[in-house]
Amino acid sequence: MSDLLMQLHANPLSAWLARALGLPNPVPLARELGAYATRPLAGKIAWLGACEESENTRVLRGSLQKAGADLCDVLVAADQTLDVVVLDASGCRTPAQYRFLYDSLNPRLRKLAVNARVLIVATDPDSLDSPVAAAVARGIEGFSRSLSKEVGKKGITVNLVYVGVTGAERLEGVVRFFCAKQTTYVTGQAVHIRTLVATPEHLPTEQVLAGKVALVTGSARGIGLATAQRLAQEGATLVCLDVPAMTLELEQRCKEIGATPLGLDIASSEAPRRLADFLMERFGGVDIVVHNAGITRDRTLANMKEHLWDQVVAVNLAAIVAVDEVLIGERVLRDQGRVVCLSSISGVAGNFGQTNYAATKAALIGYVRAQALGLSERNICINAIAPGFIETPMTDAMPFATREIGRRLNSLKQSGAPRDAAEMITFLCSPQAYGVTGSTLRVCGQGLIGA
Ligand code: NAI
Repeated sequence: MSDLLMQLHANPLSAWLARALGLPNPVPLARELGAYATRPLAGKIAWLGACEESENTRVLRGSLQKAGADLCDVLVAADQTLDVVVLDASGCRTPAQYRFLYDSLNPRLRKLAVNARVLIVATDPDSLDSPVAAAVARGIEGFSRSLSKEVGKKGITVNLVYVGVTGAERLEGVVRFFCAKQTTYVTGQAVHIRTLVATPEHLPTEQVLAGKVALVTGSARGIGLATAQRLAQEGATLVCLDVPAMTLELEQRCKEIGATPLGLDIASSEAPRRLADFLMERFGGVDIVVHNAGITRDRTLANMKEHLWDQVVAVNLAAIVAVDEVLIGERVLRDQGRVVCLSSISGVAGNFGQTNYAATKAALIGYVRAQALGLSERNICINAIAPGFIETPMTDAMPFATREIGRRLNSLKQSGAPRDAAEMITFLCSPQAYGVTGSTLRVCGQGLIGA
């Protein structure tokens, strides 16, 4: 992925011009190319602060230590930097206790390394009886979203986790993910931990999807392909589906990761039945379903032809509903399963020329929310991700100026890679993410649209 601004700033001849014009100078984002490791934070210096020592603090400390982080109270050398800062703000109940946020971060912000991670834990406002305590907890979201805008230029991410008065143990997987490289394009987000789904018997830290069968739709290219590759890295057995016209490309990609290709138009009337029969006959069911296939047919509503409206609704929403009716209804999707839908920031915020697309992508936010409780009875988690500007053939098709502006409208001043979306999907598919269901998480570098 070549970034025009990074190239301008890297070349001494053009760097002065870029500076004179005040063009942003995005830092290269750290990306993990391998699979999960048991100690993803080995060699990283971390600081943990708590407003009031709580069960959450204990879990956070243990999680950081197990992940290999070097917990330090004081930086010894003047040039030493912090890679990870975790704040347990779950004890913040009064306006005066906001000082904890200031006192913890004000002296440490200049010590944060490029690509550092800040994770804040707060109590879910909905679990608090006192209106003032609930307001204070909700305010931490404003703090964290603002801070991520301030530090984004250094590739630093700031995210918030809301946890109820119970469920502290569910923080471990979230800490492992949000404090590691995998969240490089996720910042300014608030994740809600829920206690709907039971704790899995095994919580592996490596090859976390070994023994699982995963279906990814639209996986011949783009985010779908990156997701299939990433899930395969974690040991999953992949079924990669794409339209018959993409068969050659699909088969080639499948060979590379030992996946089974399936040429099928997901929006066709026979797709749900054919897919269910295929999964049952070949694999006895499926554990992970990633509804990635999606299309855009952009026009203003006044200029949109009926068939463009219908195509988008059919592929982006109706197909997902129809496939799930069979896979979930006939229990092709096994217990402890995971479903991830691809929404979009267009679905969160709306977008000019995308009434059809935004309607379907917003519907998916409502869909995962509405399905979560029912599916939790079988310990299945269902979530969506809302990517921002991710470089794929879909975004390559945009006009140059629109594309260049789209890339910059976020706190990190650059676009994301398909791998960044794949990382979030993989996390949501993992056993460790059992506390997250019914949520839509943005992978957008804190895109200004809808932020
Ligand atoms: P892409 O256009 O590069 O790839 C989509 C894949 O889906 C293609 O291989 C295509 O053949 C397949 N597909 C389309 N219709 C299908 C059908 N009826 N049956 C089976 N396969 C079908 O798209 P990209 O960028 O990788 O996007 C993937 C998902 O992420 C989509 O749902 C998209 O709406 C969503 N998204 C992408 C963003 C981006 O910046 N790239 C931003 C927000 C959301």
